[in-house]
Amino acid sequence: MSKADLFERRRRVMMPCYGHFYGSEPLELVRGRGTRVWDAAGKEYFDFFTGVAVNSLGHCHPEVVEAVARQLETLQHTTTLYLHESVVGLAETLARLAPTGLSRVFFCADGSGANEGALLAASAATGRRNFIAFDRGLHGRTALTMEVTGIGFWKNDSFPMARAHHVPTPMDEEGAEESLGAVERLLNSPAGEEIAAFIAEPILGNGGIVVPPHGYFRRLKALLRAHGVLLIADEVQTGFCRTGAWFGMQRHGVSPDLMSCAKALGNGLPVAVWLATEEVAAAYTRPAASTFGGNLAAMAAAATVVGIMERDGLAHIAEVRGSRFRALLAGALSGFGEVAEVRGMGMMIGVEIGGPGNAAMADCDRVLCALRDRGILAGKTGPGRNVLTFLPPLTATEEEIGFAAEATREAFAATRGSSARC
Ligand SMILES: Cc1ncc(COP(=O)(O)O)c(C=O)c1O
Repeated sequence: MSKADLFERRRRVMMPCYGHFYGSEPLELVRGRGTRVWDAAGKEYFDFFTGVAVNSLGHCHPEVVEAVARQLETLQHTTTLYLHESVVGLAETLARLAPTGLSRVFFCADGSGANEGALLAASAATGRRNFIAFDRGLHGRTALTMEVTGIGFWKNDSFPMARAHHVPTPMDEEGAEESLGAVERLLNSPAGEEIAAFIAEPILGNGGIVVPPHGYFRRLKALLRAHGVLLIADEVQTGFCRTGAWFGMQRHGVSPDLMSCAKALGNGLPVAVWLATEEVAAAYTRPAASTFGGNLAAMAAAATVVGIMERDGLAHIAEVRGSRFRALLAGALSGFGEVAEVRGMGMMIGVEIGGPGNAAMADCDRVLCALRDRGILAGKTGPGRNVLTFLPPLTATEEEIGFAAEATREAFAATRGSSARC
C-alpha cells in the first residue's frame, strides 16, 4: 500500500483534530534503534524529536525491551487492588529522586491524566477550585488541563470552565518582573482567594522552549506560599534528565508541592505519575485508582529506564551534550539573520525563527523539511509554530549532534529566500 493511500485512510477514519509534519508528504516510520529510525521506503534518519521527548534512551533500548518482554511473559497486568513489588519499588525510587518533600506517588497512563490528578489533589488540599498558569503553557487535552493550557494553538474547548487565570510567560528578566507582578496583583485581588495552585512547566516545551530566568520560580514559590497557593510542576516534558537534572525544577533550585511526569519515564511505554507532599496527600483520601496506573509492563519499563539513567549518569550527560549542541547550533547559525534566538537547557533546544507570523511559520516548515531531507527529524513549537525544536535522545553521541548542527546550517542555507510550500 502506498503512503498516499495510508494518509487518505487516516484522514477518513481518524478525528480531524490530528495534525502531522511535512505537509503533503507525511512521514511513515516503521523501525527504530538507538538514535536512528527508518521510514517505509528504508530511508534512515536521526530522530532528534523522540516522539516529543519520549525516547530519551533511544528507540528499542535492549535492556528496556528485555525487561518488558520478561514481564509480559510473567504477568502483564493486574490492578492496584492487589500488591506487586514493582509498583511499590518504583514509587519508592521516584520519591527518592524527586525534589525534596515529594514523598507520595500516584501512577496513571499519560501526561494529561497526571496533571488532572495533580490539579484535583491541589483543589482537595486547599479547598479552592481555580488555578494560575503561563499564557504559553501546555498541560494536556482533557477539559481541566486544557483550561489551564494557555497556548492558543492547543486550546480546543468551546466552553471553558473559567477556572484558570493566565499570566505572562517570563521570557527574560523584564518579563519575569511583569509576570510576578501579575501573579501578585491576582493573589491580592478577591479572585486570589479562590486559587488552589499555579501549574507551570519549568521549561516550556510546546510554548517554544522557553527557560524562565533563574530566580523566577524561587520568588514565585515564596509569593504563592504567602497566599496558601500550591505550586504544581508539570514535568511531563522536562522530567527524567532531559534538562540536565532529574527534574527541571531542580535546575531552578525549587521544590514544588506537586509534580507530574510522563513521556520519558517509559521510554515509549505509556506510563505517567504525579507526586505530592505528605501535607497535600493527606487530603487525597477518597477512593481513586487508574486502570493502567501501575500496569506491570509499564512498571518494568519505567524501573529499567530510571535504573539506566541513574547508572549511566544521564542527567550530567544531557547537560554536557546539550550545552555543546546549543553552542554548535549557535555557531552554525550565526550568519543567518532570520534566526532570532537559539535557547534551551540540557537536551531541550529551540531555534526561534523571527519575522512576521505566517512567514516565520512557513520558514520553520521549510527548514523542518530540509532537515528531514538531510536525515534529521526535528519538531516545531511556539505560539507562532516558528521555533525549530530539538529533543534528541539523551544518548545521542558527540558525532550525532555535530552532524545535526551541520545539517541545520545546510537546511537554513538551502531554504533561504525560498517560498516553496512544505
Ligand atoms: C508539558 C506537557 N504537559 C502535558 C502534556 C500532555 O501529555 P499527554 O499527551 O501524555 O496527555 C504534554 C504533551 O505534550 C506536555 O508537553
